[in-house]
Amino acid sequence: MRVTGSLSEFQELRQALNGRVGAVYTMGALHVGHLSLLSHAREENDAVVATLFVNPKQFARNEDLSRYPRTLESDLQKFERAGVDLVLTPSPEMMYPPGFQTRVDVKIVSQGLEGERRPDHFTGVVTVVAKLFNLTHPDRAYFGQKDAQQVVVIRQMARDLNFPVEIIVCPTVRETDGLAMSSRNVFLTPEQRQAAAVLYGALQAAGGAYDQGEHVPAHLIEAVQDVIAAEPLAEIDYIALNDPRTLSPIHQMTNLPVLLSLSVRFGATRLLDNCLLPLSLNNLIDLTRLLGV
Ligand code: PAF
Repeated sequence: MRVTGSLSEFQELRQALNGRVGAVYTMGALHVGHLSLLSHAREENDAVVATLFVNPKQFARNEDLSRYPRTLESDLQKFERAGVDLVLTPSPEMMYPPGFQTRVDVKIVSQGLEGERRPDHFTGVVTVVAKLFNLTHPDRAYFGQKDAQQVVVIRQMARDLNFPVEIIVCPTVRETDGLAMSSRNVFLTPEQRQAAAVLYGALQAAGGAYDQGEHVPAHLIEAVQDVIAAEPLAEIDYIALNDPRTLSPIHQMTNLPVLLSLSVRFGATRLLDNCLLPLSLNNLIDLTRLLGV
């Protein structure tokens, strides 16, 4: 595995890779969710490139960039064990040198849900991902279902700007009690960590109700609310039903799949989770068909 912080060296090494290339972009603090992206990338491509860059442009002033977990050495070991061929670890100054002035904005799909709470977040994400696509030239790029809106926004940007890349969406990886793997989980106290399993329980309750024929949006949202309300440490931020392709809010159900998303606070930590309904669609092929490609 080759590791470099230099953009020009990375580009030379990238050019020397043969065959189909899969890419996994990370901000480090790798967990089992990232390992699953890497393992899909390894299985489906001739070579794998990864990037590790804590992108300052996707953090707002009130979101603590300096608190973001940084674990470079163990991340590099994990990349190596996952069979990555080439890693880029650029500095913020290299990615955004003095005089940098471009921003990539995706208008509609970045507005609701997380976009409403984090106004410039997706501009920061798609600006860096556009740069990373240009640097890494992947045939396939792997993203996690947990950040479903992020995937839809990136897919839109890739289509609009004609990046010849397939966006593959890998199912959320969960702890044994169902909590979605996330770098934010380290900020939970032991009590909050235990309580946070309620999110998965709530998604399952809605999924069960949906499978039994409950297709009234307000009733599905109530099913989620009821489960979360029983957990005193959880404070609901939003529960939403959207069309997975367009992210338009669902007011009336058809027989098309829907994306159920939730954001819930445990103290100062806001956790996200989501699932497609029906629950049988939460697999790589259907997630990629509906949120990616
Ligand atoms: O999902 C993430 O870790 C980041 O948003 C990404 C895609 C690496 C861009 O900085």
